[in-house]
Amino acid sequence: MEIIEKIEKLKKERRAVILAHNYQLPEVQDIADFVGDSLELSIKAAQTDAEAIVFCGVHFMAETAKILSPAKTVLLPDRTAGCPMADMITAEQLRALKAEHPGAKAICYVNTSAEVKAECDLCCTSANAVRMVGEVMKDAEEIIFVPDRYLAAFVAEKTGRAFIVWPGFCPTHARILPEHIEAARALHPGAVVMCHPECRPEVSALADLTISTGGMIRYAREAETREIIVGTEPGIIHRLKKENPDKNFYPVSDAVVCPNMKRTSLEKVLWALEDMTYAIEVPEEIAARARRCIEAMLNVGR
Ligand code: 13P
Ligand code: SF4
Repeated sequence: MEIIEKIEKLKKERRAVILAHNYQLPEVQDIADFVGDSLELSIKAAQTDAEAIVFCGVHFMAETAKILSPAKTVLLPDRTAGCPMADMITAEQLRALKAEHPGAKAICYVNTSAEVKAECDLCCTSANAVRMVGEVMKDAEEIIFVPDRYLAAFVAEKTGRAFIVWPGFCPTHARILPEHIEAARALHPGAVVMCHPECRPEVSALADLTISTGGMIRYAREAETREIIVGTEPGIIHRLKKENPDKNFYPVSDAVVCPNMKRTSLEKVLWALEDMTYAIEVPEEIAARARRCIEAMLNVGR
């Protein structure tokens, strides 16, 4: 039997749903029930009535799904698929920062551990960070924003707020440099440049749009332009091309692959369903506090 048939058969037997991030390998995106950005995936994880969720993404995403659906089995097909940015801050480090600023509210990017979320008032993704700060945190006198200093800079520019920031960053997006944007524009004059808010501010400054991966999918669908330069992990180009066969998408650089997002293969998805591995667990004491932080975001909506 073909691997895809085996996955489909087991998925039904296990009453499982397969969620995949926009950066996953093409064949993994193609067998998923739903492909999306971090916000869309957490909404799906909270709403599904499946008994098991196979999360094709990185650890913090599966952990967020488990926090939102504690009674479900949440599987991460490759247990080593982590996010280096999420690992750049620990709960202990955040507690020390909060102790230095006792009156401050704390907002964390969804790319954080459950323990870090448990210490925060509010969560955000790249799709809603501006709204979370501009609306939900508008009355806060001081705001701690962790761990992505580049997303923080982007939100600071959009909202006019200053933050107490943590010097974290995405090593993948940090590889995109202004010269890559300039070279891509020279090769494709007239193309629209979209980049992700995890990019360096000097890169975002050269782009036409700075948006989440879900925002890129929507923009490409709706825009009249047929030429788009993509300033994020190139895994998204599979979906962009599939949904817009009449448009051209150019990766800003070949060096922007996130190795962690590429750890999930079809074989590992099959093994995850066969062996029910690797089940993500979060101690309820941590999960309860982290859930408040994530739900404070989900209750606002997009
Ligand atoms: P979004 O899909 O939410 O834009 O996030 C990008 C990312 O880097 C996820 O790790
Ligand atoms: Fe983490 Fe960056 Fe990879 Fe996203 S692209 S999982 S932020 S390292």
